[in-house]
Amino acid sequence: EQKHQRHYLVNGELRAWNGATTEVISTISSTEDYQPTILGSIPDMGEKEALDALDAALKAYDQGQGLWPTMKVKDRIECMETFVKKMEAKREEVVKLLMWEIGKSKPDSYKEFDRTVEYIYDTIEDYKQLDRDSAKFQKHDGVYAHIRRGPLGVVLCLGPYNYPLNETFALLIPAIIMGNTTIFKPAKHGVLLIAPLLEAFQSSFPKGVVNILFGRGRAVAAPIMQTGKVDVLALIGNSKSANALQEQHPKSNRLRLVLGLEAKNPAIVLPDANMDLTVNEVIAGTTSFNGQRCTALKVVYVHEEVKDEFFEKYTKAIDALKFGNPWEDGVKLTPLPEPGKPDYIQELIDDAIAKGAKIMNEKGGQRFDNYIWPAVLYPVTKDMRVYQEEQFGPVVPVLSFKDISEPLDDMAESNYGQQVSLFGKDVYTLSPLIDTLANLVCRVNLNSSCQRGPDVYPFTGRKDSAQATLSVHDALRSFSIRTFVAFKDN
Ligand code: G3H
Repeated sequence: EQKHQRHYLVNGELRAWNGATTEVISTISSTEDYQPTILGSIPDMGEKEALDALDAALKAYDQGQGLWPTMKVKDRIECMETFVKKMEAKREEVVKLLMWEIGKSKPDSYKEFDRTVEYIYDTIEDYKQLDRDSAKFQKHDGVYAHIRRGPLGVVLCLGPYNYPLNETFALLIPAIIMGNTTIFKPAKHGVLLIAPLLEAFQSSFPKGVVNILFGRGRAVAAPIMQTGKVDVLALIGNSKSANALQEQHPKSNRLRLVLGLEAKNPAIVLPDANMDLTVNEVIAGTTSFNGQRCTALKVVYVHEEVKDEFFEKYTKAIDALKFGNPWEDGVKLTPLPEPGKPDYIQELIDDAIAKGAKIMNEKGGQRFDNYIWPAVLYPVTKDMRVYQEEQFGPVVPVLSFKDISEPLDDMAESNYGQQVSLFGKDVYTLSPLIDTLANLVCRVNLNSSCQRGPDVYPFTGRKDSAQATLSVHDALRSFSIRTFVAFKDN
């Protein structure tokens, strides 16, 4: 059954859309012979709707004096609790769309939904604590201070297709609860699944606090930025889009950025690593959701002494994974939502082969439907595109090393600095290495693959990987500013 979304949310109203629309296509085939499925359509909005949404968000904020930024904390919490309860009732509908729209496996789709609900409840609890803390007075050198946290203004929020619910809400929810007003446009894939939640947003928050638009980023987000009236750009995605939007803002030095961007997280396999455990974790890190995670392992460094054992076990394990539709039992590899992705991955493979790499696993690079089997490439060199680009898909570049300085030098030169996975046993080797790695990235995973969760842990990156920190705790701070009232003993 197709879904044709014909409403959007502006100024507390679910407005009807009668203009042009765009089809939402799933690369999951509903027939035996591979044919993409038309899931429905969404409004193709433009400048007028975008500026109406901005106007509503500005009015609801009203230079800090609007209803929302000045509302009592307990009332804001009540709105958020109402919302999350309504959202929970939509679990089955949203999970089904997660599977169809972006091809996420059934367990991972449920996990994304449940994790998001938990994120909201944890945010509410953390916000209550923040409020309790700000009720306390401080006194230094005869000056009393009542320090609290206030909102920043209007937040433009854009989420990614790989976590259209969890990561978008990891931006939107803390922004809202801190008293900001928001405009949100879902990603191109994973867009219909927002539709079942429109009514929940509309009925839970005062008008103008949450505005939801559909359409292309260029048509919707750019005109909003061009007004110079957005205070925060909150985006998880690629730096090209983030930079393009920042450039649209006439006073971009005033713009606060909350960005989660690209990464090229390495795995480093030391000679004494427990190889079975390492292979399990590297499989998870390189193949979960087909490598379409910013936290995926995107390059593997294996010590010369153990590379044969690594390849033997890793290539067998990768070829034993099951491909299928997201709802089938035991499926690990699923159709890719972006129609052009297999061709792009193929280009990376061809480039690497032309420069001397080989595909190490039997099934690597096999193509069918909108899929390409994960290809393990070795030996990879730095002139290859698969080393230089964030592949965000099923291809794994592997390099071997003799001395640990080799991967460390590469990490120091890299434009990214999100996480690393380190596999080994000897504490005397690991301990100084962990200290060095922690100065190159923001999370060192010991004998485990990289991941964002649990969502209470800080999620950020160095260099081009992020601006600001997103965790339940940190996001509340990223979307607010400390203000205070000071007075003297007089
Ligand atoms: O795309 C990046 C995501 O934040 C990854 O989250 O590590 O939980 O899959 P995850």
